[in-house]
Amino acid sequence: MRLAGKVALVTGAARGIGAETVRRMVAEGARVAIADRRVEEGHALVAELEAARPGAALFVELDVTSEADWQAAVAAVVARFGALHVLVNNAGIIRVAPLEKTDLELFRKVVDTNLVGAFLGVRTAAPAIEAAGGGSIVNFSSVQGLEGREGFTAYASSKFAVRGLTKSAALELGPKGIRVNAVVPGPTKTKMTERKGWSDADYDAAYGRYPLGRMAGAREIADVVVFLASDESSFCTGADFVVDGGVTAGKPRAE
Ligand SMILES: NC(=O)c1ccc[n+]([C@@H]2O[C@H](COP(=O)([O-])OP(=O)(O)OC[C@H]3O[C@@H](n4cnc5c(N)ncnc54)[C@H](O)[C@@H]3O)[C@@H](O)[C@H]2O)c1
Repeated sequence: MRLAGKVALVTGAARGIGAETVRRMVAEGARVAIADRRVEEGHALVAELEAARPGAALFVELDVTSEADWQAAVAAVVARFGALHVLVNNAGIIRVAPLEKTDLELFRKVVDTNLVGAFLGVRTAAPAIEAAGGGSIVNFSSVQGLEGREGFTAYASSKFAVRGLTKSAALELGPKGIRVNAVVPGPTKTKMTERKGWSDADYDAAYGRYPLGRMAGAREIADVVVFLASDESSFCTGADFVVDGGVTAGKPRAE
């Protein structure tokens, strides 16, 4: 029960890494708000978590790009659970396109969701977390926040910027008892990375020449988020936590 007594709001938690994160958090004793645009999947996950531990989960409809939604979401969490200690800015989208085909609308949509959404979350939740006596914020970057990649101009720009947001917020919020860190996942099996017709083995084969030779399961990323949310990471702030199976450790092995 590493999160006993904690209340967490996790964005994009209706599926993927976010869903696995709230499952792990509830198993560790937290009460969680699943904040997402996906209403049906969000409610289904609440039902699953409530069956495991009644009173542990709440769904809040949230578009992370909306200031009004953020105000309402944080207020709803505090009204229901009495406090907020942990914010996980996990919601994200990816659009892959060559630079010349990346129109302004596409670029802005990706940056708006991945970066502006996280900024609004940090700004809106920080006063509530401070009022609760301090806590932890975890922002989702990516290995494309450490390295560029062809076709990833918008996504990589947003994920590099999330690390800047994280470090600057850590400087301002540390004195208020709020730690702010970035998790930097490598390739992880979720809907985001799904390819039509691929088997499990095909996904792993795509990373066969990297140190661990496979993609991550969502649980492997969620476990690091739980660590950052918990008091076990009490001296960690302003840092990048890379969970990438060694993908950014160096060049992959030759064939
Ligand atoms: N899967 C990977 O390989 C990988 C690698 C590195 C980083 N990441 C990052 O991890 C995070 C989670 O990704 P995932 O793989 O679980 O993706 P996913 O597509 O399975 O889940 C993303 C969730 O975010 C929600 N979302 C998207 N836009 C939203 C908005 N405007 N408001 C509210 N919710 C919104 C979606 O509804 C969805 O539930 C993302 O930030 C992603 O960029 C993923």
